[in-house]
Amino acid sequence: MRSYIEQTGFFGGNNVEDIAGKFGTPLYVYNEEIIRGNLRRLAGMIKKYPYTANYSIKANSNLSLLKIVLEEELNCDAMSEGEIRLLMKAGFTADKIFYVPNNVSADEMKFAIDNGIMTSLDSIDQLDLYGSLNPGGKCAVRLNPGVGAGHHEKVITAGKNTKFAITDDQLDKMFEVAGRHGLKIVGINQHIGSLFMEPAPFLAAVRNLLNMAKRFGRLEFIDFGGGYGVPYHKVSEDQAGFDFDSFRTQLESILDEFVAEAGYTPLFKTEPGRYAFCEGCVLLGRVHATKTNAGRKFAGTDIGMNILVRPSLYGSWHDCEILRDGSVVTGDKEEITITGNICESGDIIADKRMLPEIKTGDLIAVLDAGAYGYSMASNYNMRLRPAEVLVTSNGDIKLIRRRDTYEDLFRNMDI
Ligand SMILES: Cc1ncc(COP(=O)(O)O)c(C=O)c1O
Repeated sequence: MRSYIEQTGFFGGNNVEDIAGKFGTPLYVYNEEIIRGNLRRLAGMIKKYPYTANYSIKANSNLSLLKIVLEEELNCDAMSEGEIRLLMKAGFTADKIFYVPNNVSADEMKFAIDNGIMTSLDSIDQLDLYGSLNPGGKCAVRLNPGVGAGHHEKVITAGKNTKFAITDDQLDKMFEVAGRHGLKIVGINQHIGSLFMEPAPFLAAVRNLLNMAKRFGRLEFIDFGGGYGVPYHKVSEDQAGFDFDSFRTQLESILDEFVAEAGYTPLFKTEPGRYAFCEGCVLLGRVHATKTNAGRKFAGTDIGMNILVRPSLYGSWHDCEILRDGSVVTGDKEEITITGNICESGDIIADKRMLPEIKTGDLIAVLDAGAYGYSMASNYNMRLRPAEVLVTSNGDIKLIRRRDTYEDLFRNMDI
């Protein structure tokens, strides 16, 4: 692919320098049309059986974007009381929220119970606590299907080496604890990890979970988790996207077998996070300096690891495009490393990339920045978290989160 920005008309006909000039950099820019397309794809992931996609809001929890999720009729997953509160603020009713926490306090669990939110317990201890707070209540449990997958060991959340979920050999004890509190387990869920492009491990985990489901009698819902991959190398390597059509065919045939054997049809669910917003977002930053140190070229920008931590934390790859005078720069390529303005040598956005020559004053567009981007941003080095804007379907630019101010930065210490 030559340029993702040009191919998608990402800025909706607006001059990118005008956007950067008005809102400043760094700046998260979202494209509503791309986002809605991806949300619809998720909402149609299973067509043959009753199905709900629960968007996992840890990937991106911007309030305006959550309202789009609601308009597109997806439900949501929450990991914390803060996420539940935000979802309620966005207009999600309790029946549209699934709470999937781990290692939480009695107070936080009670908040979900008091608000009538279905909760999934991720350990026998937490199930015991839940039962003592809500005896006779309904709940779900998070199971480990024994198979994990993901782009980095830190995001693989099932299999042998993880803190998450209840394993097969713990089921007897789990039923005993649930029985002691009169709890009715009405749903099971899993999440094997984040970012797979090939469906094989996910489908293996689906089979395992459906096998475990047989131990539960008739369930109201079975939730297969998230992890659907995004082609982060779409410009550099023409990487193709996740093939939902072929995935659906394979998944539905596994569900056919389950429904025939089990003799009932539960509601099936998934928990996609990354896929919803990732490709519908470009992170814009300004080049403030270029230099060559010991023969290695650097472009120094205002996109520090506090703005987008994925490359430093996971070694993640984001394709980058260079913008000069409002247009994408093409031409001969050279090796360059794009860094931020944080005082760490690991503060690197793109390491030793082949890109057209970068000059001071250029804009860098970091692609696929809409998932685990702003939601993992911090004020490290006392830097302000950036603003977020949305290119709406009619080409307007709407501010959907203002940049931090220095008052925001100091507020909690003014005591
Ligand atoms: C329990 C759970 N569900 C869903 C997700 C979403 O995963 P992804 O963003 O890879 O789709 C996560 C992310 O780690 C998760 O922990």
